[in-house]
Amino acid sequence: MDILDKYISKQTVDFLQNKICIEKNLIEINQEFEKFCGIVDFFENIDDLKYLKNQSTNLTDREEKSEYGDYQTNSELSDKICELLKSKEISPNIIFEPTFGKGNFIISSLKKFKNIEQIYGVEIYKPYVQITKLKILDFFIINPNIDKPTIKLFHANFFDFDTKKQIKVNKNNNLLIIGNPPWVTNSELSGIGSENLPRKVNFKNHKGLDAMTGKGNFDIAEFISNTLFDNFSENTGNFAFLVKNSVIKNILYRQIINNYKISNLKKYLIDAKKEFNVSVNASLFYCKLNSKSDKLCAEYDFYSHNRLKTFGWINNKFVSNTKTYNKYSDFDGTCQYEWRQGMKHDASKIMELYKENNFYFNKLDEKFELENDLIYGILKSSDLKGGIKNKTRKHTIVTQKKIGQETGYIKNKYPKTYNYLQSKLDIFNNRKSSIYKGKPAFSIFGIGDYSFKPYKIAISGLYKKLNFTLINPDKNNKPIMLDDTCYFIGFDDKIEAETIFEILKTEKTKKFLSSIIFNDAKRSVTKNLLMRIDIVAIMQKMNKAEYKNNNYLNISRKIATIVQTKLALFG
Ligand SMILES: C[S@@+](CC[C@H](N)C(=O)[O-])C[C@H]1O[C@@H](n2cnc3c(N)ncnc32)[C@H](O)[C@@H]1O
Repeated sequence: MDILDKYISKQTVDFLQNKICIEKNLIEINQEFEKFCGIVDFFENIDDLKYLKNQSTNLTDREEKSEYGDYQTNSELSDKICELLKSKEISPNIIFEPTFGKGNFIISSLKKFKNIEQIYGVEIYKPYVQITKLKILDFFIINPNIDKPTIKLFHANFFDFDTKKQIKVNKNNNLLIIGNPPWVTNSELSGIGSENLPRKVNFKNHKGLDAMTGKGNFDIAEFISNTLFDNFSENTGNFAFLVKNSVIKNILYRQIINNYKISNLKKYLIDAKKEFNVSVNASLFYCKLNSKSDKLCAEYDFYSHNRLKTFGWINNKFVSNTKTYNKYSDFDGTCQYEWRQGMKHDASKIMELYKENNFYFNKLDEKFELENDLIYGILKSSDLKGGIKNKTRKHTIVTQKKIGQETGYIKNKYPKTYNYLQSKLDIFNNRKSSIYKGKPAFSIFGIGDYSFKPYKIAISGLYKKLNFTLINPDKNNKPIMLDDTCYFIGFDDKIEAETIFEILKTEKTKKFLSSIIFNDAKRSVTKNLLMRIDIVAIMQKMNKAEYKNNNYLNISRKIATIVQTKLALFG
């Protein structure tokens, strides 16, 4: 019984030996087990019973963890979470764990809360259902004097489970929904051809939200949370889920539309590396059910309980740090310049080139010659460390001047470049993204007049440090390109670029940006966020000393014309 020993005490193993009698009928045995541990229908069928009797258990850990976002909470953490809830004077009489896994939240609840009358749980993986039942039995064998609630554990798919019908809660109950739903997104699931998806996936088809959330991609944990906010909107109680930080951000972001009746929203940052051995940012998300519809969330460190910041909605603006934002909210408007994303080719192996003497080398270490005309220096996120640049480590081939432009011209005008591109046609044609389908050979994206502007101010979309870099043309007077991990504004006028650069790199601009950026997103700086920088508003707040020795006066006039604003300050 090695596997059983892992989860239960010798006492419970002996108990099972004595109590499981194949000759008795299932109903009788289940009644007896319910008396000992409160679990209704301990054995779903006679096979469950035989398994345990023969000690040939199938209580294995699952192999295909990713499909089920399977990160089991360790008991120390689930204990601490229940302790934290208890310290908030939460004393539930009904517990619901919608994806209970190996059941540590159920066991911790039994340990910490004294008034539990009913526990409900759902889990899709049968061995986990059995492990949890055995752990609960073990708990009551070791603690015979603790009151036994009625415990119903369903081996079911949450997406098919009728919570309203199965979970009997009335207005007088105090419900606690607790757990750690799967850590997986719908697109990860589609990628592995999984069926573990909610049937209705259109819950966030709200216009205007796409840009923030990534079109159509959502976390299963967010779907489960939303379903529960809906289903239990009339019930008194509390909600505590361990989820990725991105899930909490999205819940908050959509709260402006969803208006779930949840209040007192709190996020407690955990160390997911330590707790789950994964490199993601995750937290405990807590809220009160059936209350007013809050749109702000206070963030704490889970271990020290220190308050870190508050994020959410202020006057219809979504912000990551309310305190800083309140100081700089005047800068939140519409940028007078258009931020653009850099060039996209999805073929770095053959499109990222190094130049040595008069030869080019690609990432496959192939050496070749190319005509100069279509070759441009290119900067990536890691090159944008602030300051001024006019050199690049890498080069690329810019095959088009605008999206969709025919590329037939390359063959006659630039035969060497054409031969190189043509020899890599397979790689171009095998690019996964659908944007390249039906487009001319060697097509690129993120290209237009703006890409060829001589002066640029760029920032990486990937880094937490907000480094604006001013980019001048290279030694051949050619404009430098940016890759698609970067955002930039293009300028024709050097002085204008330099002036705007001075404004963007001021502390106040950076502080403002930091107050609207969520650092735990993969791409923390986005076009949408950059487009919120109201450069004129920042200039208006600059004092004389700040603009005296610069060209602000001229530039401000220029911008003022762009936005048709009269800047009395500079008049
Ligand atoms: C992140 S684990 C957490 C388990 C448990 N709540 C805990 O805190 O340790 C997610 C659990 O969800 C289960 N699961 C995944 N998809 C499910 C579904 N559609 N219905 C019910 N459970 C599901 C997995 O089997 C896994 O046990």
